[in-house]
Amino acid sequence: MNDKGQPGRILLLPGDGIGPEVFVPVLGMLETIRKSGKANLEWEEAYIGGVATDKTGVPLPPETLQKVDRANAVLLGAVGGPRYDTLPYELRPERALLGIREYLGAFANLRPARIFPELVGASTLKPEVISDLDLMVVRELTGGIYFGKPRGIVTEGGVRRGINTETYSEPEIARIARVAFELARKRRKKVTSVDKANVLESSVLWREVVGLVHKDYPEVALEHMYVDNAAMQLVRNPKQFDVIVTGNLFGDILSDEAAQLTGSIGMLASASIGGKTGLYEPIHGSAPDIAGKDLANPLAMILSLAFLFRYSLDREDLAGQIEGAVRAVLSQGIRTSDIQGEGSVKVVGTREMGDRVLREFSNAQGR
Ligand code: IPM
Ligand code: MG
Repeated sequence: MNDKGQPGRILLLPGDGIGPEVFVPVLGMLETIRKSGKANLEWEEAYIGGVATDKTGVPLPPETLQKVDRANAVLLGAVGGPRYDTLPYELRPERALLGIREYLGAFANLRPARIFPELVGASTLKPEVISDLDLMVVRELTGGIYFGKPRGIVTEGGVRRGINTETYSEPEIARIARVAFELARKRRKKVTSVDKANVLESSVLWREVVGLVHKDYPEVALEHMYVDNAAMQLVRNPKQFDVIVTGNLFGDILSDEAAQLTGSIGMLASASIGGKTGLYEPIHGSAPDIAGKDLANPLAMILSLAFLFRYSLDREDLAGQIEGAVRAVLSQGIRTSDIQGEGSVKVVGTREMGDRVLREFSNAQGR
């Protein structure tokens, strides 16, 4: 995409909980870019999750999927909330999230954990353990136990049984491994493949196939690690990792752990790629306990917009300017409550944090 070509069409899905609040500065940034004429952008909004169920009766309505089809990139806030926890399984907001990932074929979920130098003091880990941390979790997103069949709750002889199936085919493993090796090639050239091959057959195949794909990437080092050990190594010595590649469930768990290393889950963005259209979302959830209280950290959402420009619209310049605006505000000591600590000068709410980043970004556009 460039300023003269076809418009970049972005679908905005604020969703539930803190989603709409953290979207506010994103809308401001899109408006600023449109006004500056630096990119030809169009955007529209749609419902997903609990709010979609409230309005239309289902969490991922057909109208939303029609808008997905028109978009070059999708930006999502968060879904879910206690009001929806008692809904039947198919109407749960989480079904919409899994549904849209599957619909887009976005099989590769990139969850980078990078620490902003300004936030080293905000981590619960010692500074020497996490300073300069920069790792990337590559989570398989459209397979594994999240989607495997058979699944369900069955009743056998009056006893209920819950069933899920961990399953990975060779092509599914090979394509996610390739994403990891390609990324590592441009980074520090190390891939750690995480599995449970000492117990699970699906992991035995995973390990074997990752090893086969590795033959095409001799310049990248490959190591295999069991998931329990990986969970421990992440808090013991996280800087040993460059790219971690793993299945859907292990990736879900380890990416939350990796996020917390950087100070707060409220800081981390993610990109889900591999399909026709990329999906961008903060890795945090809808945080219903703080929704509407002006407490949420909007930075992960703002940084997700940067990823969208980088990976879907090929606008590294705008991605860099968004990240630069976040850095600028952090370096002034401005913090939301989740990242306060050493170096914080002023603790602000969602709105003020968003306004400040937007102001920095707008100033950079004017330059
Ligand atoms: C995530 C979330 C989702 C997941 C939930 C909300 C379905 O935890 O994006 O990590 O498990 O994938
Ligand atoms: Mg998760």
